[in-house]
Amino acid sequence: MYIVFEGIDGAGKSTQIQMLKEWLEANGLEVETLVEPTDSEVGKLIRKILQRPDATTDRVQKTLGLLFAADRMLIMDKLEDEKKVIISDRSFISSLAYQEPAEWIAILNKYAKKPDLLILLDLDVKTSVARTSGEDTFENEEFLTGVRENYLKLAENFEHEIINANNGINKVSSDIKKAVASKVGLCPDCVR
Ligand code: TYD
Repeated sequence: MYIVFEGIDGAGKSTQIQMLKEWLEANGLEVETLVEPTDSEVGKLIRKILQRPDATTDRVQKTLGLLFAADRMLIMDKLEDEKKVIISDRSFISSLAYQEPAEWIAILNKYAKKPDLLILLDLDVKTSVARTSGEDTFENEEFLTGVRENYLKLAENFEHEIINANNGINKVSSDIKKAVASKVGLCPDCVR
């Protein structure tokens, strides 16, 4: 089972993944979590480039598209464990939402694994900007408005659930558990 969390910056992905992980483990499931960009050499380089003022220009976006695909390729084997629920903080769907052009990003990610379930944490863009540090060049309203729209369209291509991430942390968490429960053989009506 490969579950991917996506959403614009500040949507609460890492907090919610931790809460879901603890709940699944309390229900006897084995869980592994992953984060993209990873902490590999490529991931470190990506984080540096994200802080460049020109990170949203076409040239740097194309470079990032290549690097994100390479970083992802390095962890491909971790997604093959059939016994575990693998939860990932971002995936190639981030590249499709943030980088352009779409056809080229799709080619670069030809071998990326498709999620069994996509959880899209949908957050208001103004809230996103207020919540983030503004350290990365992507963390601005105009850019993230486009990314959010891309996500809502992209979600249609996958088995997905759109969760309203403007709600309080516990409400968001229980909405996620309800969406995940039946997929992993747990009872959706038992989620509070
Ligand atoms: P993020 O998850 O926000 O990391 P942090 O919590 O350390 O800020 O990821 C960093 C940024 O990378 C984020 O703005 C989204 C962007 N990103 C892409 O543009 N394309 C991708 O393929 C991925 C995985 C991330």
